[in-house]
Amino acid sequence: MTQAPLRLGIAGLGTVGVGTLRIVNRHAELLAARAGRPIEITAVSARNRDKDRGVSIQPFAWEDDPVALARRDDLDVFVELMGGADGPAKAATEAALSAGKDVVTANKAMLAINGQSLAELAEENGRVIRFEAAVAGGIPVIKALTEGLAGNQVTRVMGVMNGTCNYILTRMENEGLSYDEVFDAANQLGFLEADPTLDVGGIDAGHKLALLATIAFGTKVAFSDMVLEGIERITIEDIEQAADMGFRIKLLGVAQMTPRGLEQRMQPCLVPAASPLGQLEGATNMTVLEGDAVGQIVLRGAGAGEGPTASAVMGDVMDIARGFRTPTFGRPASGLADSVPAQTAIPAPYYLRMSLVDEPGALAKIATVLGEQGISIDRMHQYGHRQDSAPVLFVTHKTDRASIDASLAKMGDTGVIASAPVAIRIEDV
Ligand code: HSE
Repeated sequence: MTQAPLRLGIAGLGTVGVGTLRIVNRHAELLAARAGRPIEITAVSARNRDKDRGVSIQPFAWEDDPVALARRDDLDVFVELMGGADGPAKAATEAALSAGKDVVTANKAMLAINGQSLAELAEENGRVIRFEAAVAGGIPVIKALTEGLAGNQVTRVMGVMNGTCNYILTRMENEGLSYDEVFDAANQLGFLEADPTLDVGGIDAGHKLALLATIAFGTKVAFSDMVLEGIERITIEDIEQAADMGFRIKLLGVAQMTPRGLEQRMQPCLVPAASPLGQLEGATNMTVLEGDAVGQIVLRGAGAGEGPTASAVMGDVMDIARGFRTPTFGRPASGLADSVPAQTAIPAPYYLRMSLVDEPGALAKIATVLGEQGISIDRMHQYGHRQDSAPVLFVTHKTDRASIDASLAKMGDTGVIASAPVAIRIEDV
């Protein structure tokens, strides 16, 4: 082996950082054989030097400050595994690029918020930023979209990309448990981010979708334009009613370019139970990519965890070691268009559930409100009468969210609503 080693500096020695150390140690020969040069770790940085991580960091130089690590002369690649949209992660990434290092990161928040400026900085310095580990953990979706589908006009990108939410929703369904019960169990298992809203509020998955949309549609990252809704208000009743009709509820991301602009949504949706997305169980992730030439591709795998996420980090490291370089978002940062957000989503059927006061004419009043908003009813189901109220469920024909919201507001004025209506989009996947 005559080529110089590729020298890594790793900032952040949590689950993913330790996983990366382990792969570099375990597969040193394999990596060198594949890359045609050794992969070495030169220096590391983390919050606590003395923590027992189950893997020795003695062989590596230590830096307290990730920015100092990023600037070291004896590194080729700065591997950013600290997390956080701004602060030390961004400062160190900027320092690394400015110092002429390539960057590999797992940081979806940083790229969703600061991706454009970082991609521009990388380009100014002739460097690359790679971020496979930031989206859907071990699934090589960035590679699939940027490289494998480079000959396609991408038409739609979808994904269940937060394992915690999918774990909560599938346990609720499989065990008939409430949201709160499963949330607590997920918390005890350490599934939730330090700020759980990142998971259950859809923000983490939204960050990932925004990055995929940028690659797919060539628009600047526009996370702030995303329609974002979490799973906190999903009830076991909705899960069971959806299941009875052959659907499952998923926190689903959808991005597509429409004549009205870029549509990006991360929200609970009903999907057919028999579809690949409908069948996704537990903390697993799935991304669904659609292109004009290829049709639909489904990628499924672990969205988090030491091995899968470190696997994605190493895929990026190996590309750099082999001299394979692509622009951050698959085209030069200067060529990314401003994102024009679609103000309305493509029409879809909706699931509407409510409880009515059990009196003559109540149902007629609700049907009239829907009719007045131009919403046509496809199916209706009344079930489980209670003492003085009657749960009722509608599936509408295709309509838009504004008409649904207007009808929900008008329903409140009818005097026959016994409990707040629930509206969930039904996605054609
Ligand atoms: N918290 C995320 C999940 C993994 O539950 O999928 C990191 O993005």
